[in-house]
Amino acid sequence: MTPAGRTGPTLAVVGATGAVGAVMLGLLSSRQDVWGEIRLIASPRSAGRKLVVRGEEVEVVALDEAAFDGVDVAMFDVPDEVSARWAPIAAAKGAVVVDNSAAFRMDPDVPLVVPEVNAAAARIRPRGIIANPNCTTLSMIVAVGALHAEFGLTELVVSSYQAASGAGRPGVDTLRDQLTKVAADPSLGTQPGDVRRAAGDFGPFPAPLALNVVPWAGSLKDDGWTSEELKVRNESRKILGLPGLRVNATCVRVPVVTAHSLTVHARFENEVTVTAAHDLLRAAPGVVVCDDPAEGEFPTPADVVGTDPTWVGRVRRALDDPYALELFLCGDNLRKGAALNTAQIAELVAAELL
Ligand SMILES: NC(=O)c1ccc[n+]([C@@H]2O[C@H](COP(=O)([O-])OP(=O)(O)OC[C@H]3O[C@@H](n4cnc5c(N)ncnc54)[C@H](OP(=O)(O)O)[C@@H]3O)[C@@H](O)[C@H]2O)c1
Repeated sequence: MTPAGRTGPTLAVVGATGAVGAVMLGLLSSRQDVWGEIRLIASPRSAGRKLVVRGEEVEVVALDEAAFDGVDVAMFDVPDEVSARWAPIAAAKGAVVVDNSAAFRMDPDVPLVVPEVNAAAARIRPRGIIANPNCTTLSMIVAVGALHAEFGLTELVVSSYQAASGAGRPGVDTLRDQLTKVAADPSLGTQPGDVRRAAGDFGPFPAPLALNVVPWAGSLKDDGWTSEELKVRNESRKILGLPGLRVNATCVRVPVVTAHSLTVHARFENEVTVTAAHDLLRAAPGVVVCDDPAEGEFPTPADVVGTDPTWVGRVRRALDDPYALELFLCGDNLRKGAALNTAQIAELVAAELL
């Protein structure tokens, strides 16, 4: 029992001070409380800082082995290399790790879990680690998984419209700084290079993001693909259990603070209709259909930011292919795309422990 009289498994939040960590503390404060002690962990830079979770101030402790003493579940919201080093240490000390980084997602001994799609996979975790998918895949897979269960998915062609916060706090700071700079000159956006010269620091992006779209997210991989595009392919295949699924993604960064959007061309084994797709999506947990074009109703990132579900609109049957659907999806990359999915997985584990 904690000093506040709480019983339940002990939870560690590693990376509590980051962009995902901040959303996680909000979620832990608002979701049904299944936890006993919640321990907040970050780098030594943040040790001693006080953060509020469940209405109480909790002091942040530095990441070291002792920080995992007595911990039942450890969420990791830290850079890949920090997870790669410390998640196995936490697991060796008896904690079940739920990792938000890319360090273990494609490890065959680590399940990659989206509770609405493959919750049972969370129970088979030979390394004591469960991985959380990347935010772009998560923003579409709940809806696509529901359609796959009925129609049998064979191919995805995806374009993403990704928010600045997908690049962490530095991404948001860069976008806001550039927006301030370009707002000062109403003539910008009319001559080649004028925005580039006015925007100043590009931060984590390879081109100005304000007044622009940037066809790049992640790092360069073979044959011109980016790491982010390959994640969409590899992680979709693993979550859906479809190792041969045809997936092609183009990831694009847009000047939105938070909430990723995607256009999806999904092809199936069976013929599809818009009515059947609407019915399936309306019944799917974690999905909201917002699709009345005659009334101008479709999801936009500015309208869905801060909400939990995957929002689906613009559902159309492909004009030349009765087996394919066209969709527009939006989801908050820091909530379902990161912290919420991690919290849901951790709650599955807590239910096992209880
Ligand atoms: N942003 C997204 O949309 C998103 C979505 C899905 C997954 N993710 C993944 O989630 C993870 C966190 O992302 P973020 O956007 O929250 O990053 P962030 O804002 O940069 O926060 C990073 C966190 O990691 C901590 N940290 C860094 N180095 C550390 C070290 N050596 N030891 C202990 N703690 C350390 C930081 O603590 P200090 O404050 O003490 O430095 C901070 O709490 C990353 O793996 C990212 O890829 C992000």
